[in-house]
Amino acid sequence: MTTVRINASDAVSIETSALIIGVHTTPEGPRPAPGGEGLDQALDGRLAGILTTVGFTGKAEEVVKIPTLGALPAPVAVAVGLGDAPQDGAGDGYDLETLRRAAGAAVRSLAGTASATLALPARTAAEAEAVALGGLLGAYDFTRYRTVGDRKPPVGELTVLSGAAGAEEAVAHAATLADSVTLVRDLVNTPPSDLWPARFAEIAQETGGEAGLSVEVLDEVRLKEDGYGGIIGVGQGSINPPRLVRVAYSHPEATRKVAFVGKGITFDSGGLSLKPSASMDWMKSDMGGAGAVFGALLAIARLGLRVNAVGYLCLAENMPSGSAQRPSDVLHTYSGKTVEVLDTDAEGRLVLIDGIARASEDEPDVIIDVATLTGAQIVALGWRTAGVMANDDDLREEIVRIAGEQGEGAWGMPLPAELRKGLDSAVADIANLQPERWGSMLAAGIFLREFVPTGVRWAHVDMAGPAFNKGEPHGYTPKGGTGALTRTLVAVAERYAGNGTSAQAV
Ligand code: BES
Ligand code: MN
Ligand code: ZN
Repeated sequence: MTTVRINASDAVSIETSALIIGVHTTPEGPRPAPGGEGLDQALDGRLAGILTTVGFTGKAEEVVKIPTLGALPAPVAVAVGLGDAPQDGAGDGYDLETLRRAAGAAVRSLAGTASATLALPARTAAEAEAVALGGLLGAYDFTRYRTVGDRKPPVGELTVLSGAAGAEEAVAHAATLADSVTLVRDLVNTPPSDLWPARFAEIAQETGGEAGLSVEVLDEVRLKEDGYGGIIGVGQGSINPPRLVRVAYSHPEATRKVAFVGKGITFDSGGLSLKPSASMDWMKSDMGGAGAVFGALLAIARLGLRVNAVGYLCLAENMPSGSAQRPSDVLHTYSGKTVEVLDTDAEGRLVLIDGIARASEDEPDVIIDVATLTGAQIVALGWRTAGVMANDDDLREEIVRIAGEQGEGAWGMPLPAELRKGLDSAVADIANLQPERWGSMLAAGIFLREFVPTGVRWAHVDMAGPAFNKGEPHGYTPKGGTGALTRTLVAVAERYAGNGTSAQAV
């Protein structure tokens, strides 16, 4: 695991394997950003010329390595593009996501290097945190299953150069967040042969226990006894039975409570409504919501936030078999309502409604569920932007804003009343699917809303696309599991704890 520390010494004298600096685009060519001036001086003012010669312009996330030929202790310097310099007077400095992505891209390019020093703009604690976080997240690689090949290990040690007040705490905060995101990425990347519901529950117990969370696991016997018909129905087709894990954190001085509910389908074959093979090979990522919830709870506990937080991991493996639920089965869910299962591939909503109904018993100020719920989310918003729906407009917009601050794409989506009718069932209280495919992200949201008790503030985040990167790495995001929404949930909890810019969360 990559480590990070802070250092206030100057960039050119530091002993390191690689020195990372930021570069801006200007009409006159590439120019070093704050933190990079020392390198330019050490190179006798020739940095811009060197960069131009190799075709480097300074546009965002562009990366180039320059040999320093003895001009400073670091044998190699890495220039990373930051795009246009922030306008003077525009806000209080750099866009933090620009810094995170630049740090991530630079560190990612340095696999196989023992150590790296980030001399990116870090004149405030927030900038130092962004640089540290981007660097740590960019260093991620999932190598557990490789036994051959010459894949180079991620950078071992990162140093962030900053003399800003509070930078030490800010970088420690980044490290805590990065640890959680790393764990979530590992969980998502782990093949379903090694991550089934009971195994996930065990990991939650071990890791959660160490972090001071109280962890309670309901096995299939308890789930049946207690009436969790949704989770049982989805899980009954698998030889790996389902689990509901409750992870709780409390602070003695907390006045508010948040509840997070995560979809934790350790593999989604579709069940008897089987998926085509091409849509199935990445369905190990269908527990990304439960991963984010667990990762967030870990960070909340490790940061000691002044808030009460509870997370529900709704874990099941959706498989076809002689014991699997059938299309047209009716489930008796934890809420007391019955659901007709018209399509066993619309399983996420079935486990979530039991989690949401159980979470309401905790009487939280807000319930937020996160789920890789629909392909329609990807159709509507693409790979990197989650859809946010809620029974409260202010809550929805606040989550969109908080996600945006973390650099996690999210966009508000409506819950149009006319879509409710499509979920009418001929036999039960509601069906798990509308007959047509148009607007299915929203219909899924409407389905979930039916299980939120009146008066409970609730939001739903559909992150089918953002949870897993099928494409090439970019910024601090690797291929595969991304850990998406983990940091947003932590930031929501921080708002409810009273941290952050404005005093009171909605
Ligand atoms: N896990 C899938 C959704 C999904 C699709 C996640 C692509 C990530 C990438 C979910 O369980 C599912 O199968 N949804 C169906 C719902 C449909 C049957 C109403 C879908 O979106 O096709
Ligand atoms: Mn499915
Ligand atoms: Zn699914």
